[in-house]
Amino acid sequence: MANLDSLRAALAVSPDNVPLLLLFAQGCLDEWAFDDARGAFDRALRVNPNQPDAKLGIARTLHLTGKTSEALVRTEALTREHPNFAPALVFLSQLHLAEGNREEALTHYTRALKLDPSSRDEAYETELYLQGNRPGAAPREPEKVPVGADGGSYPGEDTESARQAAEIERPQSSFADVGGMEAVKEEIRMKIIYPLKNPELFRAYGKKIGGGVLLYGPPGCGKTMLSRATAGEINANFLAVGLHQILDLYLGNSEKNLHELFQLARDNAPSVLFFDEVDALAADRNDLKRSAGRTLINQFLAEMDGQSASNDGLLILGATNAPWHIDPAFRRPGRFDRILFVTPPDEAARAAIIEVMAKNKPVSKLDAAALARKTKDFSGADLKAMFDVAIEHSLARAMREGRVIPITTADLLESAKSLKPSTRAWFDSAKNYALYSNQGGFYDDVLKFLGIKK
Ligand SMILES: Nc1ncnc2c1ncn2[C@@H]1O[C@H](COP(=O)(O)OP(=O)(O)OP(=O)(O)O)[C@@H](O)[C@H]1O
Ligand SMILES: [Mg+2]
Repeated sequence: MANLDSLRAALAVSPDNVPLLLLFAQGCLDEWAFDDARGAFDRALRVNPNQPDAKLGIARTLHLTGKTSEALVRTEALTREHPNFAPALVFLSQLHLAEGNREEALTHYTRALKLDPSSRDEAYETELYLQGNRPGAAPREPEKVPVGADGGSYPGEDTESARQAAEIERPQSSFADVGGMEAVKEEIRMKIIYPLKNPELFRAYGKKIGGGVLLYGPPGCGKTMLSRATAGEINANFLAVGLHQILDLYLGNSEKNLHELFQLARDNAPSVLFFDEVDALAADRNDLKRSAGRTLINQFLAEMDGQSASNDGLLILGATNAPWHIDPAFRRPGRFDRILFVTPPDEAARAAIIEVMAKNKPVSKLDAAALARKTKDFSGADLKAMFDVAIEHSLARAMREGRVIPITTADLLESAKSLKPSTRAWFDSAKNYALYSNQGGFYDDVLKFLGIKK
């Protein structure tokens, strides 16, 4: 993708090129260059007075500069002129939510999805869902609130503490079950596995055992799996806080609930406290649209710092597909001070994953190397899908013939051909952040992986 300077140069040559103007304006918005963005959107509208993208762009610019009511008026007008323009409906929904008008927000968002399912915005959905229910999904179960002695009940008052609701696991899996990922495994060993084996040595250097590691990368590449296996590897307790628990934290006494989760993990040390989709909790405090709110984030930071109790023997793992939403304060020393890019598996890692997956399955004459060569850009989850499809076919035949028919490398190759690797879309957006918003080299690993020189 071209950068702003080259777009500017291109515009000097063709100042009335609407697609170019829109691209430039969007780039300016991403860089928070609001005046330039507004100028370019206005110009696009002068060239083509009925351009919906330019109108939407102006509304976005207004909203980002604090003029939300003007943005709302313009977006409403836009949705009247172009009732089937889904992006405007999504934005209108966001504006209404920002104004505290959930019902309206839900109506517009649902309509947008109906018009164009690809206008789904998962981060935004989380937020809408937080506030009520999710369109297209069953409405949330009402909170179970037992009736108190006085016969009254109080929604939102937590009746079961976070501590009771959380589940401590003893994972059976270990690093051997996770193919590849050698660099990430080694980092985790350094943080917790070696220190637990040599505690005296470690303490002699004045180091605490544990700490925070943030794993980020495209979906399906083993972040969650490896986190669980880490606990199995050291026979430690594992406490997973998933997106839904995080959302539940928003109900009722969120700071206290978060403290209790940490306390539970501390009481069960050595333990791994795992925050899946941590961006939902740790979004930038300045990003009002996404953020969990200052007090909850500050609480999270304080817990990571071990302000109220020692975090010795506690490994805090976070996983996310959207590291760009995470508040930079989480990256300070003592918090998530190791940030690891979990890449899609390379050829050797794919072979290793395939070997692991073939265990306990009726596979004959497995040629993992050949399969690895033919599955470029496949994630671990994609490889799993490759096995699933092949097994389904083989099972259908087995039913007909009444005997087990092992799957072969050829079957797996056939099934791989029917699948599309899922990691590319993630890199499309990661690349933009890495190129245009590479906070202090945070995404250098992504650029390196893509073979882009800075
Ligand atoms: N390295 C691996 N070795 C073996 N299996 C893997 C590996 N990576 C992924 N898988 C398979 O893919 C599935 C999805 O992986 P996992 O849930 O850990 O990915 P993730 O990175 O957490 O994805 P997301 O970002 O979507 O949460 C796993 O349940 C497992 O079957
Ligand atoms: Mg995951």
